[in-house]
Amino acid sequence: MIQLVIGSQWGDEGKGKIVDMMAEKSDLVVRFHGGNNAGHTVVVNGKKFPFHLIPSGILQKKPVVVIADGVVIDPDVLLEEMAIFEKMGINLKKKLLISPRCHLIMPYHKELDQAYENARGKNKLGTTKRGIGPVYADKVSYNGIRIYELMNWPLFVEKFKFQTEIKNKILVVFDVAPIKVEACLPIFKKLAEKIRPMVGDTFSLFQKAISQKKRILLEGAHGVMLDNSFGLYPFVTASNVIEGGVNIGSSIPSKRIDEIWGVVKAYTSRVGGGPLPTELFDKTADGIRERGYEYGTTTGRPRRVGWLDLPAVKFACQLSSINRIAITKIDILSGLSQIKVCVGYKLSGKKIEFSQCGYQELEKLTPIYKSFPGWKEEISKIKSFKKLPVNCQKYIKFVEKYLEVKVKIVSVSPEREASILL
Ligand code: GDP
Ligand code: IMO
Ligand code: MG
Repeated sequence: MIQLVIGSQWGDEGKGKIVDMMAEKSDLVVRFHGGNNAGHTVVVNGKKFPFHLIPSGILQKKPVVVIADGVVIDPDVLLEEMAIFEKMGINLKKKLLISPRCHLIMPYHKELDQAYENARGKNKLGTTKRGIGPVYADKVSYNGIRIYELMNWPLFVEKFKFQTEIKNKILVVFDVAPIKVEACLPIFKKLAEKIRPMVGDTFSLFQKAISQKKRILLEGAHGVMLDNSFGLYPFVTASNVIEGGVNIGSSIPSKRIDEIWGVVKAYTSRVGGGPLPTELFDKTADGIRERGYEYGTTTGRPRRVGWLDLPAVKFACQLSSINRIAITKIDILSGLSQIKVCVGYKLSGKKIEFSQCGYQELEKLTPIYKSFPGWKEEISKIKSFKKLPVNCQKYIKFVEKYLEVKVKIVSVSPEREASILL
């Protein structure tokens, strides 16, 4: 049984919580793309665990967690995360496997990410400045350095020196101090020694797991609106977020996936630049941001918030064959007298589909809203759908009908246990 969890909006939908919950029964939990631009939060007994690279399933006893081929690794971040879980008594040699095909985020990638953002000035994209665009650019242009090379120290040093020589010439153009290879080597040496026992053949592991009918849980990062091909380019991330990214990023054939879960936050949030048709700028937005603690897990930036944008989510569902929905953070809408949902768009008085819009159209269009009466009750302790306030039930049912995909989980608080299963 293979399950995939993907974000259907602009990221931060609550994927970490859903993955942690589903991981209880999984044999393998796999990250297959992105890097530490992702920030997935799991809350267990009031304690918050933010994950950036290690799959969120690691807190559960059963699964082995895998950082698969498509993930890009920042040495500082991986070492830091490993230290956290080792301190908790988790034996990473038994629990974590890393693909040698993963590319490394090098110091010049982070400098270049920052330098490009600064150069864009008022047109900046709002990246996380973690070096994600530059590391994937190097991957596709054959200039990347992988864990594979890191496992052969002289080869790694040779490649690092060659790439740094070139990248320093570019950094000079941006007025950025050149990278000194010698000063950077110790952290890579430390990483190489630390992860050597955990680097291995993920392909064989997956093939064996598939033939033995084990449970594999694929943990998507970001959200479909940030997909490099189908998101609102250039306000996107560098990896492929959609279902097709699974084969590319993990070697697991997409055809083998049984369940594709789309995580849908009950409203919209977004960190970084780019159009957001349903964005709110009023007191309602401030209220949702504070109640929902909408601040970036990775960068701490306040998230932009708005009403649920169903045409965008439907596009994500169709694009990735999403066949199960997990709605999150519906508790945050409690107390609002009226809740709006975007059900279509108009541009220059005419209806327009999401798929017909680039970022310029999305900036100008007018959302068509449907209004719902709200509910006053606090719902975070409710355990069954029927006990939810009727107006809350109606809201969920409407989302389900619009998306033509069954809602199977309704999450009502950040805590592990606080989900209603349908
Ligand atoms: P991810 O990147 O998709 O994993 O999401 P983040 O962890 O970046 O952001 C989601 C935030 O919402 C985290 O702080 C979660 O703990 C929290 N969260 C997840 N589900 C719920 C929910 O149903 N209700 C509330 N109130 N918070 C939730
Ligand atoms: P999770 O997995 C929200 C956004 C950044 C920026 C754009 C490009 O926690 O949902 P990048 O650093 O990737 O080059 O930035 O993508 N972004 C995310 N926004 N959640 C994420 O991940 C994100 N990962 C990237 O804010 O707008
Ligand atoms: Mg996040």
